[in-house]
Amino acid sequence: NDCAIGVDIGGTKVAAGLVDAEGTVVARTRRDTPDRSCSPRVVENTIVGAVEELLDRAGDEGRAVSAVGIGAAGFVGADRATVVFAPHLSWRDEPLRESLGSRIGRPITVDNDANAAAWAESRFGAARGESHVVMITLGTGIGGALVIDHELQRGRFGTAGEFGHMQVVPDGIRCECGNRGCWEQYASGNALVREARGLMSARSPVAEDLLARVGGDPSRLAGPLVTEAAREGDPTARELIAEIGHWLGVGMAGLAAAFDPGSFVIGGGVSAAGELLLDPAREAFRRRLPGRGYRPEARIVQAALGPDAGLIGAADLARHESGPAH
Ligand code: BGC
Ligand code: NA
Ligand code: ZN
Repeated sequence: NDCAIGVDIGGTKVAAGLVDAEGTVVARTRRDTPDRSCSPRVVENTIVGAVEELLDRAGDEGRAVSAVGIGAAGFVGADRATVVFAPHLSWRDEPLRESLGSRIGRPITVDNDANAAAWAESRFGAARGESHVVMITLGTGIGGALVIDHELQRGRFGTAGEFGHMQVVPDGIRCECGNRGCWEQYASGNALVREARGLMSARSPVAEDLLARVGGDPSRLAGPLVTEAAREGDPTARELIAEIGHWLGVGMAGLAAAFDPGSFVIGGGVSAAGELLLDPAREAFRRRLPGRGYRPEARIVQAALGPDAGLIGAADLARHESGPAH
């Protein structure tokens, strides 16, 4: 009956859930992520609001909440308390654990959002039993995480697994991290929306279906709408998602060279496109894998926990790190 609360803070939404010891979400809530121009205090208020709502619900159901875990879309320091940098949020050296701890009154753990998702998928999801896993989340940016010998790798300074900021295109598109050509500029939800809007703004006839779905206003387009159009057979939407898939595969081939995982698990909002995304990804992966044909190939699978992976992982990490051995 003992639960933990997990909060997944992404570039567009804050998703929180009350999670039991088996990784089941027993209650959930969500908010929009405050705009990047808002102060860290506003983001903090949003998190506290979501946590308080879940604490109330836990109380109503007679469940105890032992800890709160945060999965944050940013570079989390080795202290597991500070978000040192976040390309899509207003955090710079933000002492998140301290500022939340004083308001929430429960032990708090902080990790990167993709690390949390990888932990959940490894314990309860698509990578259960797998010793070497690379997790990729396709949302506002690309989140990455590395599990080796069943253990999350955080690096010397906490920020291992920032795969979204590997350069895949020399002198490519400018990224919020300060560089050019980062992987997340080509294979994320933001990339999908940017490409779709580009076609629409060019008044390309091939974008007619998409344009009709937003009443002629490209700025109203969001990623899920492209996925919906693709599902319903719009060839342009399919092509746009396949392109994201292609770049996903190119990046994974590089990661296979570096880490040789048994599985790649693909999560985040864009992964809802399923095989429309993964087929082209596998194809590009096979075409780019160093030594292809002469080595075993990693599985490339969709996250089993879908959009819940981050919050489930954050809650489970908090339970493990602040409670007695479980
Ligand atoms: C950030 C990561 C984050 C990812 C997904 C990237 O731009 O650098 O820290 O995990 O977006 O939210
Ligand atoms: Na990470
Ligand atoms: Zn970058």
